[in-house]
Amino acid sequence: MKPLVASACAKIILLGEHAVVYRQPAIAIPLSTLRAYATRQPSDTPVIVLQEERITPSNATHPLITLLNLVCEFIQQPLPPIAIHVDSQIPIASGLGSGAAIATAIARLICAHYNVTLPQASLNNLIYETEKIFHSTPSGIDNTVIVYEKPILFVKGAPVEFVDKFQPFKLLIANTGITAPTYESVSDVRRLYERSPEEYSTIFAEIGSLVTQGLACMQRGDWQTLGALMTRNHALLQTLTVSCAELDALVEAALANGAWGAKLSGGGRGGNMIVLAPEAQIESMTQALYAAGAVHVMQVEVGEHDHHTA
Ligand code: MEV
Repeated sequence: MKPLVASACAKIILLGEHAVVYRQPAIAIPLSTLRAYATRQPSDTPVIVLQEERITPSNATHPLITLLNLVCEFIQQPLPPIAIHVDSQIPIASGLGSGAAIATAIARLICAHYNVTLPQASLNNLIYETEKIFHSTPSGIDNTVIVYEKPILFVKGAPVEFVDKFQPFKLLIANTGITAPTYESVSDVRRLYERSPEEYSTIFAEIGSLVTQGLACMQRGDWQTLGALMTRNHALLQTLTVSCAELDALVEAALANGAWGAKLSGGGRGGNMIVLAPEAQIESMTQALYAAGAVHVMQVEVGEHDHHTA
Protein backbone atom coordinates (compact mmCIF):
# COMPACT_ATOMS: atom_id res chain seq x y z
CA MET A 1 0.00 0.00 0.00
CA LYS A 2 1.49 3.34 -1.09
CA PRO A 3 1.90 6.02 1.58
CA LEU A 4 -0.88 8.58 1.49
CA VAL A 5 -1.20 11.77 3.54
CA ALA A 6 -3.94 14.39 3.61
CA SER A 7 -4.05 17.56 5.68
CA ALA A 8 -6.09 20.61 6.65
CA CYS A 9 -5.17 24.00 8.11
CA ALA A 10 -5.99 25.83 11.36
CA LYS A 11 -7.88 29.14 11.37
CA ILE A 12 -8.39 32.35 13.30
CA ILE A 13 -11.39 34.65 13.45
CA LEU A 14 -10.32 38.24 12.81
CA LEU A 15 -13.68 39.76 13.76
CA GLY A 16 -17.19 38.54 14.49
CA GLU A 17 -17.15 35.24 16.43
CA HIS A 18 -20.30 34.33 18.38
CA ALA A 19 -22.41 37.01 16.63
CA VAL A 20 -21.84 34.93 13.47
CA VAL A 21 -23.98 32.18 15.01
CA TYR A 22 -26.84 34.73 14.86
CA ARG A 23 -26.31 35.45 11.15
CA GLN A 24 -24.04 38.47 11.53
CA PRO A 25 -20.99 38.53 9.22
CA ALA A 26 -17.53 37.45 10.43
CA ILE A 27 -14.04 37.40 8.90
CA ALA A 28 -11.97 34.22 9.21
CA ILE A 29 -8.41 33.59 8.05
CA PRO A 30 -6.72 30.23 7.41
CA LEU A 31 -3.40 29.44 9.09
CA SER A 32 -1.77 27.38 6.38
CA THR A 33 1.40 26.38 8.22
CA LEU A 34 -0.40 25.06 11.29
CA ARG A 35 -2.02 21.79 10.17
CA ALA A 36 -3.70 18.51 11.05
CA TYR A 37 -2.51 15.45 9.10
CA ALA A 38 -4.15 12.09 8.40
CA THR A 39 -1.90 9.28 7.15
CA ARG A 40 -2.97 5.95 5.66
CA GLN A 41 -1.35 2.81 7.05
CA PRO A 42 -2.09 -0.87 6.42
CA SER A 43 -4.72 -2.55 8.62
CA ASP A 44 -7.18 -5.44 8.18
CA THR A 45 -10.07 -3.43 9.57
CA PRO A 46 -10.93 0.30 9.67
CA VAL A 47 -9.42 2.16 12.61
CA ILE A 48 -8.60 5.78 13.44
CA VAL A 49 -5.52 6.26 15.59
CA LEU A 50 -5.53 9.52 17.52
CA GLN A 51 -2.71 9.94 20.05
CA GLU A 52 -3.00 6.81 22.26
CA GLU A 53 -6.60 6.10 21.25
CA ARG A 54 -7.62 3.45 18.66
CA ILE A 55 -11.14 4.32 17.51
CA THR A 56 -13.03 1.57 15.66
CA PRO A 57 -16.47 1.55 13.97
CA SER A 58 -17.85 -0.36 17.00
CA ASN A 59 -17.49 2.99 18.78
CA ALA A 60 -20.46 4.19 16.72
CA THR A 61 -21.15 7.42 18.62
CA HIS A 62 -17.59 8.74 18.37
CA PRO A 63 -17.56 11.96 16.30
CA LEU A 64 -14.78 10.68 14.04
CA ILE A 65 -16.62 7.39 13.37
CA THR A 66 -19.74 9.41 12.55
CA LEU A 67 -17.60 11.38 10.11
CA LEU A 68 -16.15 8.18 8.62
CA ASN A 69 -19.66 6.80 8.08
CA LEU A 70 -20.95 10.08 6.60
CA VAL A 71 -18.08 10.41 4.13
CA CYS A 72 -18.22 6.75 3.00
CA GLU A 73 -21.99 6.92 2.61
CA PHE A 74 -21.67 10.11 0.54
CA ILE A 75 -19.05 8.68 -1.83
CA GLN A 76 -20.85 5.30 -1.84
CA GLN A 77 -17.89 3.27 -0.64
CA PRO A 78 -17.48 0.79 2.23
CA LEU A 79 -15.54 1.81 5.34
CA PRO A 80 -11.91 1.57 4.21
CA PRO A 81 -9.87 -1.31 5.73
CA ILE A 82 -7.00 1.01 6.66
CA ALA A 83 -5.55 2.60 9.75
CA ILE A 84 -5.94 6.40 9.67
CA HIS A 85 -3.25 7.94 11.84
CA VAL A 86 -4.07 11.47 12.94
CA ASP A 87 -1.28 13.84 13.82
CA SER A 88 -2.14 17.47 14.52
CA GLN A 89 0.01 20.55 15.18
CA ILE A 90 -3.10 22.52 16.15
CA PRO A 91 -3.72 22.91 19.89
CA ILE A 92 -7.13 21.47 20.79
CA ALA A 93 -10.01 23.53 22.23
CA SER A 94 -8.04 26.74 21.68
CA GLY A 95 -10.11 28.60 19.12
CA LEU A 96 -7.96 27.51 16.17
CA GLY A 97 -10.40 25.05 14.59
CA SER A 98 -8.60 21.86 15.60
CA GLY A 99 -11.77 19.69 15.46
CA ALA A 100 -12.83 20.83 11.98
CA ALA A 101 -9.23 20.53 10.71
CA ILE A 102 -8.87 16.92 11.94
CA ALA A 103 -12.24 16.02 10.42
CA THR A 104 -11.29 17.65 7.10
CA ALA A 105 -7.91 15.87 6.96
CA ILE A 106 -9.59 12.48 7.61
CA ALA A 107 -12.31 13.09 5.01
CA ARG A 108 -9.68 14.10 2.45
CA LEU A 109 -7.67 10.96 3.18
CA ILE A 110 -10.69 8.68 2.70
CA CYS A 111 -11.47 10.36 -0.64
CA ALA A 112 -7.84 10.06 -1.74
CA HIS A 113 -7.81 6.40 -0.69
CA TYR A 114 -10.77 5.74 -3.01
CA ASN A 115 -9.46 8.10 -5.70
CA VAL A 116 -12.59 10.20 -5.41
CA THR A 117 -12.42 13.94 -6.04
CA LEU A 118 -15.00 15.53 -3.81
CA PRO A 119 -16.08 19.10 -4.71
CA GLN A 120 -15.07 21.56 -1.98
CA ALA A 121 -18.73 22.46 -1.38
CA SER A 122 -19.64 18.80 -0.72
CA LEU A 123 -16.68 18.33 1.62
CA ASN A 124 -17.67 21.53 3.42
CA ASN A 125 -21.24 20.25 3.87
CA LEU A 126 -20.03 16.92 5.25
CA ILE A 127 -17.74 18.56 7.80
CA TYR A 128 -20.53 20.96 8.76
CA GLU A 129 -22.86 18.00 9.33
CA THR A 130 -20.37 16.48 11.80
CA GLU A 131 -19.83 19.86 13.47
CA LYS A 132 -23.61 20.21 13.90
CA ILE A 133 -23.95 16.80 15.55
CA PHE A 134 -21.28 17.48 18.13
CA HIS A 135 -21.01 21.25 18.65
CA SER A 136 -24.23 22.82 19.79
CA THR A 137 -25.18 25.33 17.05
CA PRO A 138 -22.10 26.04 14.93
CA SER A 139 -22.35 28.78 12.34
CA GLY A 140 -20.26 26.81 9.83
CA ILE A 141 -17.47 29.40 9.71
CA ASP A 142 -14.75 27.00 10.95
CA ASN A 143 -15.39 24.24 8.42
CA THR A 144 -15.76 26.80 5.59
CA VAL A 145 -12.47 28.66 6.15
CA ILE A 146 -10.64 25.37 6.76
CA VAL A 147 -12.03 23.49 3.74
CA TYR A 148 -11.48 26.39 1.28
CA GLU A 149 -8.26 27.56 3.00
CA LYS A 150 -8.84 31.17 1.98
CA PRO A 151 -9.77 34.31 3.95
CA ILE A 152 -13.57 34.56 4.02
CA LEU A 153 -16.34 36.96 4.89
CA PHE A 154 -18.83 34.48 6.29
CA VAL A 155 -22.56 34.84 6.80
CA LYS A 156 -24.41 31.76 8.04
CA GLY A 157 -26.60 30.34 5.31
CA ALA A 158 -25.21 32.63 2.56
CA PRO A 159 -22.89 31.54 -0.27
CA VAL A 160 -19.22 31.70 0.78
CA GLU A 161 -17.53 35.03 -0.02
CA PHE A 162 -13.74 35.06 -0.39
CA VAL A 163 -11.78 38.11 0.76
CA ASP A 164 -9.04 38.30 -1.83
CA LYS A 165 -8.38 41.97 -2.46
CA PHE A 166 -6.75 43.37 0.64
CA GLN A 167 -3.41 44.73 1.79
CA PRO A 168 -1.20 42.06 3.42
CA PHE A 169 -0.65 42.50 7.17
CA LYS A 170 0.92 40.77 10.14
CA LEU A 171 -0.80 39.40 13.23
CA LEU A 172 0.50 37.96 16.45
CA ILE A 173 -1.39 34.99 17.87
CA ALA A 174 -0.89 34.32 21.56
CA ASN A 175 -2.11 31.20 23.34
CA THR A 176 -3.27 31.42 26.97
CA GLY A 177 -2.63 27.68 27.33
CA ILE A 178 -6.16 27.27 28.68
CA THR A 179 -8.40 24.83 26.83
CA ALA A 180 -12.08 25.70 26.59
CA PRO A 181 -14.58 23.82 24.43
CA THR A 182 -16.36 26.17 22.02
CA TYR A 183 -19.75 24.47 22.46
CA GLU A 184 -19.81 25.61 26.11
CA SER A 185 -19.31 29.29 25.36
CA VAL A 186 -21.69 29.07 22.38
CA SER A 187 -24.36 27.44 24.62
CA ASP A 188 -23.87 30.09 27.33
CA VAL A 189 -24.27 32.91 24.80
CA ARG A 190 -27.44 31.19 23.55
CA ARG A 191 -28.83 31.18 27.13
CA LEU A 192 -28.10 34.91 27.51
CA TYR A 193 -29.70 35.64 24.16
CA GLU A 194 -32.82 33.63 24.98
CA ARG A 195 -33.22 35.48 28.25
CA SER A 196 -32.89 38.93 26.62
CA PRO A 197 -33.16 38.63 22.84
CA GLU A 198 -33.37 42.37 22.17
CA GLU A 199 -30.38 43.30 24.30
CA TYR A 200 -28.17 40.61 22.79
CA SER A 201 -29.37 41.18 19.22
CA THR A 202 -28.15 44.78 19.61
CA ILE A 203 -24.71 43.52 20.68
CA PHE A 204 -24.59 41.03 17.79
CA ALA A 205 -25.57 43.79 15.35
CA GLU A 206 -22.78 46.04 16.63
CA ILE A 207 -20.29 43.20 16.18
CA GLY A 208 -21.63 42.71 12.64
CA SER A 209 -21.06 46.38 11.90
CA LEU A 210 -17.45 46.13 13.19
CA VAL A 211 -16.93 43.31 10.70
CA THR A 212 -18.22 45.33 7.75
CA GLN A 213 -16.03 48.27 8.74
CA GLY A 214 -13.08 45.91 9.31
CA LEU A 215 -13.33 44.53 5.80
CA ALA A 216 -13.11 48.08 4.38
CA CYS A 217 -10.04 48.72 6.59
CA MET A 218 -8.33 45.57 5.25
CA GLN A 219 -9.00 46.71 1.72
CA ARG A 220 -7.56 50.20 2.21
CA GLY A 221 -4.76 49.15 4.59
CA ASP A 222 -6.07 51.20 7.53
CA TRP A 223 -4.51 49.19 10.35
CA GLN A 224 -5.06 51.75 13.07
CA THR A 225 -8.83 51.69 12.55
CA LEU A 226 -8.88 47.92 12.09
CA GLY A 227 -7.05 47.61 15.43
CA ALA A 228 -9.60 49.85 17.16
CA LEU A 229 -12.41 47.70 15.73
CA MET A 230 -10.72 44.57 17.08
CA THR A 231 -10.39 46.08 20.55
CA ARG A 232 -14.06 47.14 20.52
CA ASN A 233 -14.96 43.61 19.39
CA HIS A 234 -13.08 42.23 22.41
CA ALA A 235 -15.06 44.51 24.75
CA LEU A 236 -18.33 43.23 23.24
CA LEU A 237 -17.12 39.64 23.63
CA GLN A 238 -16.47 40.44 27.30
CA THR A 239 -20.11 41.52 27.55
CA LEU A 240 -21.07 38.16 26.06
CA THR A 241 -19.08 36.57 28.96
CA VAL A 242 -16.74 34.68 26.64
CA SER A 243 -13.47 36.33 27.68
CA CYS A 244 -11.51 35.41 30.82
CA ALA A 245 -8.87 37.04 33.03
CA GLU A 246 -5.98 35.46 31.09
CA LEU A 247 -7.27 36.67 27.71
CA ASP A 248 -7.96 40.14 29.13
CA ALA A 249 -4.42 40.30 30.55
CA LEU A 250 -2.95 39.54 27.12
CA VAL A 251 -5.18 42.13 25.42
CA GLU A 252 -4.20 44.75 28.02
CA ALA A 253 -0.49 43.92 27.65
CA ALA A 254 -0.77 44.26 23.87
CA LEU A 255 -2.50 47.65 24.10
CA ALA A 256 -0.04 48.90 26.74
CA ASN A 257 2.81 47.99 24.41
CA GLY A 258 1.64 49.94 21.38
CA ALA A 259 -0.71 47.53 19.57
CA TRP A 260 -3.23 49.02 17.16
CA GLY A 261 -5.72 46.53 18.57
CA ALA A 262 -6.21 43.12 20.16
CA LYS A 263 -8.98 40.64 20.88
CA LEU A 264 -9.72 37.06 21.75
CA SER A 265 -10.23 34.81 18.73
CA GLY A 266 -12.65 31.87 18.47
CA GLY A 267 -14.90 30.50 21.18
CA GLY A 268 -13.04 32.28 24.02
CA ARG A 269 -12.78 31.54 27.80
CA GLY A 270 -9.18 30.57 27.04
CA GLY A 271 -7.49 29.55 23.83
CA ASN A 272 -5.94 32.22 21.64
CA MET A 273 -6.00 35.98 21.19
CA ILE A 274 -4.75 38.05 18.26
CA VAL A 275 -2.84 41.33 18.10
CA LEU A 276 -2.48 43.84 15.28
CA ALA A 277 0.65 45.92 15.82
CA PRO A 278 3.06 48.13 13.88
CA GLU A 279 5.94 46.12 12.35
CA ALA A 280 8.49 47.87 14.60
CA GLN A 281 6.58 46.72 17.67
CA ILE A 282 6.33 43.03 16.81
CA GLU A 283 9.44 41.75 18.59
CA SER A 284 8.92 43.68 21.83
CA MET A 285 5.21 42.83 21.67
CA THR A 286 6.04 39.13 21.50
CA GLN A 287 8.12 39.46 24.68
CA ALA A 288 5.38 41.49 26.38
CA LEU A 289 2.81 38.77 25.57
CA TYR A 290 5.03 36.07 27.06
CA ALA A 291 5.56 38.26 30.13
CA ALA A 292 1.77 38.63 30.46
CA GLY A 293 1.28 34.85 30.55
CA ALA A 294 1.17 33.60 26.96
CA VAL A 295 2.45 30.03 26.60
CA HIS A 296 3.09 30.42 22.88
CA VAL A 297 3.23 33.40 20.53
CA MET A 298 3.13 33.00 16.76
CA GLN A 299 3.65 35.56 14.01
CA VAL A 300 1.40 35.26 10.97
CA GLU A 301 1.53 37.13 7.70
CA VAL A 302 -1.95 37.46 6.28
CA GLY A 303 -1.87 38.18 2.59
CA GLU A 304 -1.95 36.79 -0.90
CA HIS A 305 -0.02 33.66 0.05
CA ASP A 306 -0.93 33.53 3.74
CA HIS A 307 2.73 33.02 4.50
CA HIS A 308 3.62 32.22 8.12
CA THR A 309 6.70 32.44 10.27
CA ALA A 310 7.02 30.52 13.55
C1 MEV B 1 -15.71 29.44 16.66
O1 MEV B 1 -14.54 29.44 15.89
C2 MEV B 1 -16.59 30.58 16.26
C3 MEV B 1 -17.88 30.71 17.05
O2 MEV B 1 -18.55 31.85 16.50
C4 MEV B 1 -18.76 29.49 16.92
C5 MEV B 1 -19.33 29.32 15.53
O3 MEV B 1 -19.37 30.26 14.74
O4 MEV B 1 -19.76 28.18 15.23
C6 MEV B 1 -17.63 30.97 18.52
